Amino acid sequence: MSKKVVLSGARPTGSLHIGNYLGAVQNWVRLQDEYDCYFFIADWHALTTGYEDTAGYKENIDEVVKDLYASGLDPDKCNIFLQSALKEHAELHLLFSMITPLSWLERCPTYKDQLVQMEDKNIRTYGFLGYPCLQAADILIYRADFVPVGEDQLPHIEMTREIARRFNFLYDSVFPEPQPLLTKAKVLPGLDGRKMSKSYNNTIALKDRGDVLRQKVMSMITDPARIKKDDPGHPDICPVFGYHKIFNEQEVPEIECDCKAGKIGCVACKKNLFNKLSAAMEPIHERRDEIDANPGMVREILARGTSNARKIVEETMKDVRKAMKIDWE
Ligand code: TRP
Ligand code: SF4
Repeated sequence: MSKKVVLSGARPTGSLHIGNYLGAVQNWVRLQDEYDCYFFIADWHALTTGYEDTAGYKENIDEVVKDLYASGLDPDKCNIFLQSALKEHAELHLLFSMITPLSWLERCPTYKDQLVQMEDKNIRTYGFLGYPCLQAADILIYRADFVPVGEDQLPHIEMTREIARRFNFLYDSVFPEPQPLLTKAKVLPGLDGRKMSKSYNNTIALKDRGDVLRQKVMSMITDPARIKKDDPGHPDICPVFGYHKIFNEQEVPEIECDCKAGKIGCVACKKNLFNKLSAAMEPIHERRDEIDANPGMVREILARGTSNARKIVEETMKDVRKAMKIDWE
């Protein structure tokens, strides 16, 4: 029996941070052993909100590919490629745009949220409204069975299923309805205790190491009630403790006890975390060094992924045109 198909996309945000890694990429690395995996960089999606400033576009793509490789994605096991290298995504998006009711797009919760949250940007565009339609094309063109995503993406997967149903109803059964694979995300706070996000400038990048990493860890906020070393602490509200839970599980009970009793200082607690974090990230840094030392490697990885993906998308588009009876010739 052939393997089930897994597909997911990442926006080219530039360097990934450890929140991206724990929330998504680590899961992709696990999936590549079991499934036929397609992981792509959603560069057209980035344009929907970032069309005004494309200065960092190429560099960001390069960084994401390097970090995906560093994280353990293996080009021998999964396909890594760029959305825009496969124009069929755009063709299917166009065809889906013909059959997708405006009301579905206008009612999409992420659309309404983003319009409010990104008030400073002009995203009242045709392209941004159609974002979920493009995402549906990305997914359905590989006839994906599973789509690993975070909870925020669920409305898009639901709309993908609706578009698949509508297409199958109007023409012919071409598309399966994909299932989301909800990632049980370990949530890692940022350096300041808020959600880790590039826009808050509170991230630890996957490539941070040595003094850069040390300084970031040492600058983390802790329980504000602890002024003197022997003040009793509240580990549950301390982001440093949250990191120990993930990167230093073994010592968690001890740290919790000592912090509450005022027996360890925050500086020592952070130094300890820095050591554990460095050790945990070492394999990622080794792979990052490998790809940094091989200038042609990013392009090779993408070329391989693209050529495998191309076979699938060409096949699907033939079926789509045929089902719609627009297969002229
Ligand atoms: N919308 C996703 C995000 O913002 C990125 C994405 C684009 C995607 N196309 C996809 C994710 C297809 C999964 C499947 O993170
Ligand atoms: Fe946080 Fe550690 Fe300080 Fe406790 S001792 S407040 S867990 S940094």
